[in-house]
Amino acid sequence: MVHDRPQADLNGHFTGKVVIVTGAGSGIGRAAARAFARAGAHVLGVARRKETLEETAAGHPRVAVHAADLRDPHTPQQVVDAAVGLWGRVDVLVNNAGATKMMPLADTTADGVTDLFALNVTAPSLLAGAALPHLRGAAGSIVNVSSTYGHRPLPGGAHYAASKAALEHLTRSWAVELAADGVRVNAVAPGPTESQALAAAGLPEPVIEQIKRDEAARIPLGRRGEPDEVAVWILRLADPAATWLTGQILTVDGGLELT
Ligand SMILES: NC(=O)c1ccc[n+]([C@@H]2O[C@H](COP(=O)([O-])OP(=O)(O)OC[C@H]3O[C@@H](n4cnc5c(N)ncnc54)[C@H](OP(=O)(O)O)[C@@H]3O)[C@@H](O)[C@H]2O)c1
Repeated sequence: MVHDRPQADLNGHFTGKVVIVTGAGSGIGRAAARAFARAGAHVLGVARRKETLEETAAGHPRVAVHAADLRDPHTPQQVVDAAVGLWGRVDVLVNNAGATKMMPLADTTADGVTDLFALNVTAPSLLAGAALPHLRGAAGSIVNVSSTYGHRPLPGGAHYAASKAALEHLTRSWAVELAADGVRVNAVAPGPTESQALAAAGLPEPVIEQIKRDEAARIPLGRRGEPDEVAVWILRLADPAATWLTGQILTVDGGLELT
């Protein structure tokens, strides 16, 4: 469902800045990539599928795309090199790509854990490390995309929740570690938001529809979120004007966590 609401106006806040957005082929990452471009940034969108990345970039001349699997440990440096090759700098890294996996303890496998953590924890870490020399010079910032499950339990999906808890703690630790370099590190923790995530987790359509109805019923604001409603907070945390904000995890969930 599309809701009629004004788009936050961050026009010009990112003029001349270079932003890397992972998972830019759909959902929150697509909305963030386009919003950064509207706000004046050059954006490198990363995901595995080139076609969906190109849909993100269509009509947004400041968005370039880089198709690669972030679970490959060589990809993060290649992504940073691609952005620097195109525009000579990196100001903002948005670690948005992530996968949801339901994996009850009885069905937990080493491969299942390793695969999930490779995307949700290792890739953001290697990207941050590769971007760091550029972020340092630019008084840049990192925005990690967690989940409300980064700080609440998810029965049947404990390793997804644990991977997001790890990302939240990396956010706080890096905020302190990089403060002397003038690099800020924050995170958003979205609640249920319209995207491809449930389908990508391999759930059948009727189950997805039931989950969506149940979630909407539990959310005080009465509905699931739209990607733009999360993306705007990614931009606000990354905004160069947010000079004294670091180490924070901002939950954006229509009030779900209060219940
Ligand atoms: N939607 C929600 O309700 C919700 C709630 C809380 C947190 N989040 C978090 O928000 C972030 C974005 O999720 P979303 O809901 O917008 O999901 P989405 O629509 O499924 O988008 C995920 C993006 O990541 C890319 N991706 C997946 N695996 C990848 C890999 N191995 N290498 C490179 N790119 C990869 C996907 O493209 P390809 O498949 O082409 O690679 C896609 O562009 C995730 O970190 C998720 O955990 C979402």
